Amino acid sequence: MSNIAVIGTGYVGLVTGTCFADLGNDVRCIDIAEEKVAMLQRGQLPIYEPGLAELVDRNVRAKRLAFTGDYGEGLRDADFVFIAVNTPSGIGGEADMSQVRQAAEGIARHVEKNVVVVNRSTVPIGTGDLVTAIIKRVNGRVPFAVVSNPEFTREGTAVRDFLQPDRVVLGATDRAAAEQVAALYASFDCPVIITDLNTAEMIKYASNAFLATRIAFINEIAAICEKVGADVKEVARGMGLDSRIGQGYLDAGIGYGGSCLPKDVRALEHEAAIHGCHPQLLRAVMDINRDQRRLIVQRLRELLASVAPDAGVRGLEGRTVAVLGLSFKPGTDDIREAPSLDIIHLLETAGAVVKAYDPAAMAKVQADGILPRVILCQDAYEAAKDADALIIVTEWNEFKRLDMRRIRDALRLPVILDGRNLYDPAQMRAFGFTYWSVGRAVTHGAAPASETLSLVQ
Ligand SMILES: NC(=O)c1ccc[n+]([C@@H]2O[C@H](COP(=O)([O-])OP(=O)(O)OC[C@H]3O[C@@H](n4cnc5c(N)ncnc54)[C@H](O)[C@@H]3O)[C@@H](O)[C@H]2O)c1
Repeated sequence: MSNIAVIGTGYVGLVTGTCFADLGNDVRCIDIAEEKVAMLQRGQLPIYEPGLAELVDRNVRAKRLAFTGDYGEGLRDADFVFIAVNTPSGIGGEADMSQVRQAAEGIARHVEKNVVVVNRSTVPIGTGDLVTAIIKRVNGRVPFAVVSNPEFTREGTAVRDFLQPDRVVLGATDRAAAEQVAALYASFDCPVIITDLNTAEMIKYASNAFLATRIAFINEIAAICEKVGADVKEVARGMGLDSRIGQGYLDAGIGYGGSCLPKDVRALEHEAAIHGCHPQLLRAVMDINRDQRRLIVQRLRELLASVAPDAGVRGLEGRTVAVLGLSFKPGTDDIREAPSLDIIHLLETAGAVVKAYDPAAMAKVQADGILPRVILCQDAYEAAKDADALIIVTEWNEFKRLDMRRIRDALRLPVILDGRNLYDPAQMRAFGFTYWSVGRAVTHGAAPASETLSLVQ
């Protein structure tokens, strides 16, 4: 059993700290956000992550997990300090390192004994040396080592990903320190890579850039499929069954979002550029991803114009659009860089009224005052009520099992744009929908004449 401190109780820090406590360690999580610490101390979670609440509760009761806003209290007796603060995009696309710098200074001011500082945040190459330099400058007395241990968990499945990782990556100049950290993961049945600091940091960026590239690639293929009459879902399946390719991250759709892939691709592009490289592939990935969000709004205009010919004149002005899904992916309430935000912005800018429903993210949207003009609804059917079209933005499981007759009856026009390719086009036609999905042919159902007439006012 080790004494572990975790700095930052966000999506990564809270999962890391809680899972280490569940493995039997004594864990203290430190955060500067007083309201988060107060919530956690009251037994409430500031984020939604499946399975996490039960785990936090169990480990707090077992007195293996505690939360504090005080570095002194949190770091007392710590053998390991994990840095899990955020590294958001700066104005030039670079990773903003201010939280990491602050955390390193906080550690330096408060550690009293030999400690291993473990960087869990996703950081630019060279951060291990930066953290080392900060701690040395602020506190020359206490011996310490810095290890990079990038986080590969995904929101929505973070607890499982933490406890059953594909690999553990550790980077250090001091191999003994890396091996001490490796011992924390000794019960896991997975490869452990021990390498140097810069290589470990690069493994994280390269992994995320590669995942983003696969998504951009299949979206580019989807655009060609639409033109040549191929079905991208079948194409991806056919490709993915090749053992050299694999199925993951080949889902055509409205692109990636969230707190990691967008900022990490930008940060790597920035890093490459300042080192004199020409990261044209990364730039193309970002371009394609941005275009996917515009594409769905453009297709909406086209479909509405085809279903109600006068709509071409009105465009989206005065239209009501139902948006299903606000979080950047299912299983989380995280809306950072979610495609929904751009899509809703484009719709509202074009004069449309947006009604939206999300199973997990609406409380956060309301609390943060994001999307003030959007009408938040209790469920998908309320969102669809009297809307001119419905857009699927996030592939929540409950959207896969909608009662399509109810949806069709609720909508003013039977128009669905599926940004996540959830449904079978033939079935959607049978339900009477005009249905567009990414990289597949548009299908048109036969709508009752009365509905078509009601459009032409
Ligand atoms: N979210 C993910 O699923 C995920 C996955 C892999 C890697 N990462 C990386 O992990 C890092 C953290 O991401 P996140 O999503 O957990 O961020 P987050 O914004 O959810 O959490 C960061 C937390 O750190 C706290 N904080 C900021 N400065 C602090 C300081 N000086 N001292 C103590 N606490 C401080 C904030 O109050 C916040 O609670 C990022 O670098 C991210 O790229 C995230």
